[in-house]
Amino acid sequence: MNPHPKIAFDPTAAAPLIDPFGRAISYVRLSVTDRCDFRCVYCMSEHMQFLPRRDLLTLEELDRLCAVFIERGARKLRITGGEPLMRRDILSLFRLLSRHLVSGKLGELTLTTNGSQLERYAEALADCGVERVNVSLDTLDPERFRQLTRTGEHARVLAGVDAALRAGLAVKLNAVALKGVNETEFVELTRFAHGRGMDMTFIEVMPLGEIDGGERIDQYIPLSRVRERLAEQFTLDEIDYRTGGPARYMRVAETGGRVGFITPLSHNFCESCNRVRVTCTGTLYMCLGQEDAADLRAPLRADASDASLRAAIDAAILRKPKGHDFVIDRATRAPAVSRHMSTTGG
Ligand code: 5AD
Ligand code: SF4
Repeated sequence: MNPHPKIAFDPTAAAPLIDPFGRAISYVRLSVTDRCDFRCVYCMSEHMQFLPRRDLLTLEELDRLCAVFIERGARKLRITGGEPLMRRDILSLFRLLSRHLVSGKLGELTLTTNGSQLERYAEALADCGVERVNVSLDTLDPERFRQLTRTGEHARVLAGVDAALRAGLAVKLNAVALKGVNETEFVELTRFAHGRGMDMTFIEVMPLGEIDGGERIDQYIPLSRVRERLAEQFTLDEIDYRTGGPARYMRVAETGGRVGFITPLSHNFCESCNRVRVTCTGTLYMCLGQEDAADLRAPLRADASDASLRAAIDAAILRKPKGHDFVIDRATRAPAVSRHMSTTGG
């Protein structure tokens, strides 16, 4: 018998996904491609081997996958890559996914992008119900940007940011804090973002995948250093604003804008983790910093009814680990996990 007679019992409502630590999985980050037009030095090696296209989930399979997660309580969906806007016909996926916003089952559909294609896509994304985008921008110096991304064009990214703002999207800038690269720019980046009504978030570099031309220990700066730099110029006030992700925010009194800190190394944020990641080949990673994974492509392809897919997701969530333990030090030379951010989805 229904012990709560006032609450209608809906036998068709699917149970939410709850992990062994009682955390509800409400946030799915889905990578739609491992390809990218940039080769950021902290993310990729110069000559990356990308996956053959046949290994990727089709747009239809990606859509089915999302529908199952949403039916099981995912409220936030972030499309990532690689560079998600490099995926051919990506807008048709956004158009399909927008039905979950209309039905109210999905609270938010967002994307993380390097901005290179944003000028072309911003308006159409807004039309699909996307309200916020994260744009990666590590430096305001075009020459430095070229060195950092190896192939990127700074002006195109800025044009993309402008187009997003014109389309009414809330833009958050993400910068990875990099020793000797953008160390002198933290204040300037913050002023730039806040001057355009954007949030600014800093990220610690994580040991994900082999890179060449440097070691992560030589790139890593704890964000406490970023905060010190900002505090020299700004008054930082604690606020409890959250976006459902791992960032912790402060308000800059002088600009009125928000600055976020994502500190996977210096301050592990796993405790409140509500996320899983799915790669473009349908591999479900229960944690960014662990190797354990579940294949969802085989069940997707085995069974058009989604029954196998549901069972595979259920089994995987029961294996979600408590957290990661990234370390970056001189003794630990190898990356914590062998796959790149562009594989797992940023
Ligand atoms: N450590 C931290 N951030 C990374 N990104 C890519 N690789 C790494 C890494 N190894 C960032 C990108 C982008 C976001 C998706 O992840 O700069 O902002
Ligand atoms: Fe591309 Fe983003 Fe990786 Fe840079 S960090 S190479 S933009 S996926």
